[in-house]
Amino acid sequence: NEGSLWGGRFASGPSPELQLLSKSTHFDWQLAPYDLAGSRAHARALHTAGYLDAAELEGMLAGLDRVEANWADGTLVPLDSDEDVHGALENALIAEVGAELGGKLRAGRSRNDQIATLVRMYLRDHAATIGTQLVHLVDAIAAQADAHRGAIMPGRTHLQHAQPVLLAHHLLAHGWAFARDLDRFGDWWARTDQSPYGSGALAGSTLGLDAEAVAADLGFAGTTDNSIDGTAARDLVAEFAFIAAQIGVDLSRLSEEVILWNTREFGFVTLHDGYSTGSSIMPQKKNPDIAELARGKSGRLIGNLSGLLATLKALPLAYNRDLQEDKEPVFDSVETLEVLLPAFTGMIASLTFNTERMAELAPQGFSLATDVAEWLVKRHVPFRAAHEISGAMVRYAEEHDLELDEVPDDALAAINARLTPEVREVLTVEGSVGSRTSAGGTAPVRVDEQFGRLADRIRKG
Ligand code: ARG
Repeated sequence: NEGSLWGGRFASGPSPELQLLSKSTHFDWQLAPYDLAGSRAHARALHTAGYLDAAELEGMLAGLDRVEANWADGTLVPLDSDEDVHGALENALIAEVGAELGGKLRAGRSRNDQIATLVRMYLRDHAATIGTQLVHLVDAIAAQADAHRGAIMPGRTHLQHAQPVLLAHHLLAHGWAFARDLDRFGDWWARTDQSPYGSGALAGSTLGLDAEAVAADLGFAGTTDNSIDGTAARDLVAEFAFIAAQIGVDLSRLSEEVILWNTREFGFVTLHDGYSTGSSIMPQKKNPDIAELARGKSGRLIGNLSGLLATLKALPLAYNRDLQEDKEPVFDSVETLEVLLPAFTGMIASLTFNTERMAELAPQGFSLATDVAEWLVKRHVPFRAAHEISGAMVRYAEEHDLELDEVPDDALAAINARLTPEVREVLTVEGSVGSRTSAGGTAPVRVDEQFGRLADRIRKG
């Protein structure tokens, strides 16, 4: 039973089938730096409480440093007999400093409080990485908006022409969604910023170790309030997986637009060659694969969240081995986003917008009909009647194959006496867009204000 964490009570070692099933080193090996940071903090707490003298602490810390160096350069790799990263590193420490000293480290801690702490530290680091990637994405979106401040496009609801809007306004709408995703990491961390280290297996320890000092050492604001909750809670992992899934959904919504805009029928954007792919058979093809992969991977990110929630559902307190199943989905979400976001940002930053095509389509589909109705309201026609009158004007234009501004004077008068030729003042897309000055509206004055606000928002955290 050499190298096992639980020799005493067992007459035999684990069967090969159990070893194969139980093993987590192929995914938790990357947690080694966090495990070792925890071990250093724990060793200091053992020293403070009198369980390690100064020389022992020094020997222990030096041994942990050597283990970390061996991990980093790849000379330390998990053995077939290692179940998880925690046990493997304890064995590696013992190989460095001997069983007498190395065997003292495990006092007052359990793999249950270790893993609960480590997963928080891992997620904290990756929230920072993904957060920075999101800032870059929002910057790229805002730069495209800034480069096309005056451009007008058809705004859509139900994918039908609705009202003209500024392209910058539409792009910034996506920027705000990603800004909220960024906020979500901050909100999540405020709840997650507590160290479970010292909770032991579930009930705490008898050794009088300073868990607050360990928490501070590991960069946490404090300790968890309940050792059972500290070791058993994984809502914070699920919440992280939710944020990742929401980012995926937000990427997917923008992706769908890029895919549509890139069709011949829309013709709104051209993808950069470096951020699109060709076809192995059709020489003319230029495909929006990054957007399609983002759309596809959003499904995977949602799946990771659903799978994790299904694992947690009905788990009794406290630690159960099921909880080992939390890591692969959330690690996958992290790895997926960290590869996806830079590619996606590159695609957005390098898009060419065909603003002439957008401007040409902006007034089509009678997208100024609301402007006619609101022009009537300003002349004290009740909106209900104004809506009817404007609708009749649309019907006339449609029947005569005209745009709204081409409806002749006599036809206007025949539709309704209030419909004087002056109505044509509001029948330009520029006039329409410029007059939507309500809070958050598409008027250039309002859109201009958004740039600074969005930039402040994504940098406040
Ligand atoms: N590898 C486990 C996990 O990821 C931690 C070890 C706790 N194992 C145990 N038998 N108590 O959750």
